[in-house]
Amino acid sequence: MKPVNVGILGLGTVGGGTANVLMRNAEEIERRAGRQIQVSMASVRSVSKPRICDTSHIELTEDPFDIVNHPDIDIVVELIGGDTLARELVLQAIANGKHVVTANKALIAVHGNEIFAAAEKRGVVVAFEAAVAGGIAIIKAIREGLAGNRIQWLAGIINGTSNFILTEMRDKGRGFSDVLQEAQALGYAEADPTFDVEGIDAAHKLTILCSIAFGVPLHFEKAVTEGISSITPTDVSYAGRLGYRIKHLGITRRTDAGIELRVHPTLIPERRLIANVDGVMNAVLVVGDAVGPTLHYGAGAGAEPTASAVVADLVDVTRALTTDPDNRVPHLAFQTSSINDSIRFLAMDEVKTAYYLRMCVSNRPGVLAEITRILGDRGISIKAIEQMEASAAEANVTVILLTDTCLEKDMNEALASIENLPTSQGAVIRIRVESLNA
Ligand code: NDP
Ligand code: HSE
Repeated sequence: MKPVNVGILGLGTVGGGTANVLMRNAEEIERRAGRQIQVSMASVRSVSKPRICDTSHIELTEDPFDIVNHPDIDIVVELIGGDTLARELVLQAIANGKHVVTANKALIAVHGNEIFAAAEKRGVVVAFEAAVAGGIAIIKAIREGLAGNRIQWLAGIINGTSNFILTEMRDKGRGFSDVLQEAQALGYAEADPTFDVEGIDAAHKLTILCSIAFGVPLHFEKAVTEGISSITPTDVSYAGRLGYRIKHLGITRRTDAGIELRVHPTLIPERRLIANVDGVMNAVLVVGDAVGPTLHYGAGAGAEPTASAVVADLVDVTRALTTDPDNRVPHLAFQTSSINDSIRFLAMDEVKTAYYLRMCVSNRPGVLAEITRILGDRGISIKAIEQMEASAAEANVTVILLTDTCLEKDMNEALASIENLPTSQGAVIRIRVESLNA
């Protein structure tokens, strides 16, 4: 049978890794797909730049539109990144009747509704397994493997760079920017690394997971996003003393009040498996009503782990080339006609969670009583409290509190009151706590 012709847009970390895996495992991939999958064209910004893959059999171009408009290309693999040029190229490829594979979570989270509508109209597939959690087949697991379940909630470490930074800070006491530079050199970080450290990349991925878990359209604009840049070694160490690890977590939950969609640093009990996911590894805990908790683990970034997902999509699309477009696995797991916006998304004020609080207060009698009164007045109960040892001569003392679950709105009010106390020295550090008890 005639080989399937693939055109790759972007031959950087993931594009180069994809070309390498396709070449190295060509024989096994052909046995699985039923046809040879060959990269015949690739686009780059500069053809003279050295590549991590062999390009001797690939026609290189500096104009990506040469590929999306080329009559011999069957599948376009978008690995440029960003959501402007990539959107234009993907829509053009679809309009030309080409199937698309992408690792671009920003593109799918922000423009996915438009892209999938265009693809369904044209009868082509847009596959995006590599967009979430690198090499873990989490899209396929939720969309197909867990299709019998009503998904209740999921929580994941879904940014490899952030997890790598937090792990190195905790285990080796390394500084934030030093570790970030290493993550960039290893090819883990986004072109703009603030997407990693400020939680935007994780929010893109969580938006996608939320949609396929609950059958709602992609709503990136509803995501509550906080990154890891404010996490200090002090809190990492205090969390450890209390039996917790700080992880950057994406959480989406369907409650009676609405859907939670939030990304932020989180204290997790250290006995949970997910609390022990370190370095560039990712893990997603998915809880379904029938199956219970399932944990999906693997490398979250890097050339070949991501290429593994891109190539799996290429195999899937190759197998689907001859299938009836109306009977394919729906892009967002649910039949398009049944994806609806009937469930609202909760603002962070409406979310219930527990908290770790660290505050610096005057070292004198009655201060703790004032703080506990403020919390108690709002129905916030304290689970643990620890005052760091200080001599009588010291003017200030550090207090750590763990609270039970409460409404974020109540906690915001309580913290404003605590910070207003004359005995309070500066802002209270607040990190959310999740037991992840399934
Ligand atoms: P790289 O920066 O390594 O590669 C990007 C490629 O696109 C390069 O070949 C570059 O050309 C080309 N390119 C960039 N801008 C343009 C442009 N304006 N016009 C034409 N070509 C352009 O990125 P990655 O491989 O790391 O990431 C690619 C995609 O995969 C992104 O969407 C990213 O979010 C996603 N992803 C990345 C992962 C990772 O671990 N790195 C993991 C999962 C997803 P040139 O080489 O000549 O500069
Ligand atoms: N920058 C991303 C991360 C790449 O670190 O997780 C994988 O999506």
